[in-house]
Formats: sequence, C-alpha cells, structure tokens
Amino acid sequence: MKKQPIFVAVDTNNIKRATQIVNATNKYIYGVKFGLEFFCSKGGRDAIKKFKNKNVKIFLDLKLKDIPNTVYKAIKSLKDVSPDYLTIHASGGLEMMKAAKKAQSETNKKLKILAVTVLTSLSNKDLKQMGSSTSVESQVQKLAQTAKLAKIHGIVCSAHEIKKVKRVSKNFEIIVPGIRISNKVQDQKRVMSPKQALKLGATHLVIGRDITKGNPKANIKKVLNALI
Ligand code: C5P
Repeated sequence: MKKQPIFVAVDTNNIKRATQIVNATNKYIYGVKFGLEFFCSKGGRDAIKKFKNKNVKIFLDLKLKDIPNTVYKAIKSLKDVSPDYLTIHASGGLEMMKAAKKAQSETNKKLKILAVTVLTSLSNKDLKQMGSSTSVESQVQKLAQTAKLAKIHGIVCSAHEIKKVKRVSKNFEIIVPGIRISNKVQDQKRVMSPKQALKLGATHLVIGRDITKGNPKANIKKVLNALI
C-alpha cells in the first residue's frame, strides 16, 4: 500500500502508548511527529531514536524559539537523535532561523528545518489580543518570506494559508496541522479536512487526536477513507 503524506502526532507521555500508535499506523503513513510532551517525558528522548527502525520519518516538533546562539546550540545537541524534520518558530526572527540552518548544515545534512508560522490554535482575535494589528494570513505570509530569506526547507501553517505560502516559494514543503475528519475542533481554530488540504497543495498533513484518541488502527482507516 502506498504511504500517505501524513505525520501522526504522537502526543502522549507514555512510551507504551506511543509504541501502540506507531505500530498501528506506520504501514500507512510517511512519518511520526513527537512534540514536547513526549520529548520531555521520562525516557522519551531515547525512545524517539528507537522508532527510527519502524520505516517512518521522524519529525521532532520542539518549536524552538530563543536567541540565535541558544537555538544553534540546541540543534547541535540533537545530533544523536538525528530527526528527519525539526520545527523552530519563524517568529524567532531571521537571525535565529539562519542560526538554525547553520547548525543543521554542520550536524545533519539530511535534517529538514520547518518554520512554524502562526499556530493553528490562534485566530485573528488572538493576534489582536497579543498586540498585533495584522491578520493571520498576512502574518503567515510575512513569516514565510523571512523563512525563505533564511533558506528554511519548509513551513508549518494552517490549510487556510497554503496558497499564500506557495506564492512565497514553490520550493517550500508545506506541513499542515489543524486537520479534522470530524467536526470536533477541540483547541484548534483554523481547521480543514485532509482531502481539501492536500488539494490546496499541502505536501504533508499533521494529524493527532483524530488518529490517536481511542483505537488508532480503526482511526487511521477512517482517515485513509476520507482521502478517497
Ligand atoms: O490533535 P491535533 O490533530 O490537533 O494535533 C495537531 C498537532 O500539530 C499537535 O501535535 C500540535 O502540537 C501540532 N501543531 C499545531 N499547530 C501548529 C504546529 C503544530 O497544531 N501550528
């Protein structure tokens, strides 16, 4: 069976549960994404290395954001984990993104750095509350333009901004969370169906709770059906 361009977000602090999710889905999907919850959990960092032999890409979603030197050193310190994808926040600025790219090229040539634009849990109202007068769309576009200057490999945005990001650069990988096959949006605000997001040009989708809550094997089948 052809693997679908999906990263399953393995959001748990439990290695046994993470293993169940990976084993139930790895045949069907391109990769698994581990975020702060799993990485910070006891044994999580080392467990990630073991998932490398499951024939899936490893996406480390640490969303790094700090001064350039700290981000540079943090990426250097991930050499032993050697993920395939790693996130940083584009809002850390041009110099921080350049420092991330420098660390990547010095430590792991095959690692792809992804710049997170505006979290899919935020709306225009939230941006306004944080003191920004720009819309989510314009903010994503601006951050993508800055990421392009830093020669970042890919962008994380919601499906609603894919077109804008593609206009900034055709070469970006576009990784899209906020994917729902049901109408349960939970804490996400900018959501879309998997089929629609791929049609708009997402190169990969990130799907968490729609796969990981309950029975992952049954859930991944529902997601695959939603792609037909
Ligand atoms: O459960 P759900 O499908 O909402 O999970 C989405 C995953 O994508 C989570 O792991 C979340 O941390 C991540 N993510 C996101 N929005 C971003 C970047 C990453 O939801 N902008």
